[in-house]
Amino acid sequence: MSNNSRKKSKHSEVFEPFNLVVFGGDGDLALRKIYPALFHRQIDGQLLCDYNVIAITRKNPSETTFYSELVRFLKESTEDSEIDFEIDEFIKKVKLISAPEASVEGYFELSAFLNSFPNFQNIYYFSTPSSAFGPIAQALKSSGLVKKSSKVVLEKPLGYSLESSKSINEDITKAFNEKQIYRIDHYLGKETVQNLMVLRFANNLFERAWDSEHIDNIQITVSESLGVEKRAAYYDNSGALLDMVQNHLLQLLCLVAMEPPHTLEADEVRNEKLKVLRSMRLFTKKSVLTDTVKGQYSRGIVKGVEVQSYLEDIKKFNSKTETFVAIKAYVDNWRWKEVPFYLRTGKRMLKRYSEIVINFKEVRHNIFPSKEKLNNNKLIIRLQPEERIELVQMTKIPGPGGYRYKPIALKLDFLDSFKERFPEAYERLIIDVIRGNQTLFMRQDELEAAWTWIESITSNWKAAGMNNILYEAGTWGPGDDIMDEESTWITKTWKES
Ligand code: BG6
Repeated sequence: MSNNSRKKSKHSEVFEPFNLVVFGGDGDLALRKIYPALFHRQIDGQLLCDYNVIAITRKNPSETTFYSELVRFLKESTEDSEIDFEIDEFIKKVKLISAPEASVEGYFELSAFLNSFPNFQNIYYFSTPSSAFGPIAQALKSSGLVKKSSKVVLEKPLGYSLESSKSINEDITKAFNEKQIYRIDHYLGKETVQNLMVLRFANNLFERAWDSEHIDNIQITVSESLGVEKRAAYYDNSGALLDMVQNHLLQLLCLVAMEPPHTLEADEVRNEKLKVLRSMRLFTKKSVLTDTVKGQYSRGIVKGVEVQSYLEDIKKFNSKTETFVAIKAYVDNWRWKEVPFYLRTGKRMLKRYSEIVINFKEVRHNIFPSKEKLNNNKLIIRLQPEERIELVQMTKIPGPGGYRYKPIALKLDFLDSFKERFPEAYERLIIDVIRGNQTLFMRQDELEAAWTWIESITSNWKAAGMNNILYEAGTWGPGDDIMDEESTWITKTWKES
């Protein structure tokens, strides 16, 4: 890309110079998401400051392999082909350091490098398994590398239970305080997710009808056509509930359900989200059986290609891990009394899409002579693959013949309305870390409240002896035929939305 071909950011900001130190620096997430995110902010002209990127690896990789991989991922992150100059400039800022062990000795080279930039803020990005977080934090502290201006970014999974999440936090807080900790949930960095705040709190129209008096149910769906890819070991320890619901779907639910915060200040927003999480109805041995479903994919056809079963994918034939989960959840507070929130996510589904559907109640009384069914209004917030908002409303069919009507959607397509490239979630989040804004990051108490609710499911799945229902890859998941009357809501509403 030539220097001028991409529209420069209207929002260039002068940040303090920084060192971004990425642990797990040659890993998939770093190469696929973290470096390209910074690179795009750079070429958009938003990063008007000095900075270095330090990739820390435990291995002893060849520099040539690392840099050629990095170039490949940077190239893949853009459709622009004339981008070599920008890539060369960016690569000059990236340094690879091998630190096989987390200790003062192991971090000797890192210390020497960081100390040669005494006026830079140090941002440590832990993109490693969470078991390594404590030792890395301790080694950084012992090496004198944690200063008041330092920050730490933590990638999920932040534990596998309430207890393990607390223990990770204890380890981290021995070196960093809460104001320095950025727990990433990349869903909060998505444009359409942030737009939820604007939609709700900058439009009087919706807020007036945003409660149990007007809303019948809310559905939050994240459907993926991919399987577990190369993450078998991680995924088999998590499953759909921990991998997706504990973080992404619950965060979406919080943004839909929370009260208007006083301001956008980080703790104001996080306090409101926390109240929602603490109001969520805990499951019992009885309610997990009627209000949750878990499934695992078997062989099938996805986008015309035959794919293996989950068990074949992970090469472990006794795994009980769920790759699909559907939950009917309730937020027990004044606003949401008895409004079901349907949360659903699965791997190897028919197609990839994420959306939030707000289903309003039907009108109280039908005045029209035909008495044809009046469909309820729906507000559909499509997060991906397209980003759009639809408001489905009943409309008169033009012409004679009395009042005939049908549901028509008013559509706002983001791409059509804002003809700009949307930054990736990680771009927004990394910039927020640099600028020191914690609004889009989770606080420990939020995490603990989420874990308490999640554990009411996992412990009762165990107590009730609940098994996975097998579903064919490339379908919508467990079907009505294997569900009892009470549970048909799960597939019925899934297919309709
Ligand atoms: C990650 C999960 O957090 O989110 C993955 O670990 C999942 O399993 C991914 O595929 C989905 O993210 P996105 O942005 O593609 O919807």
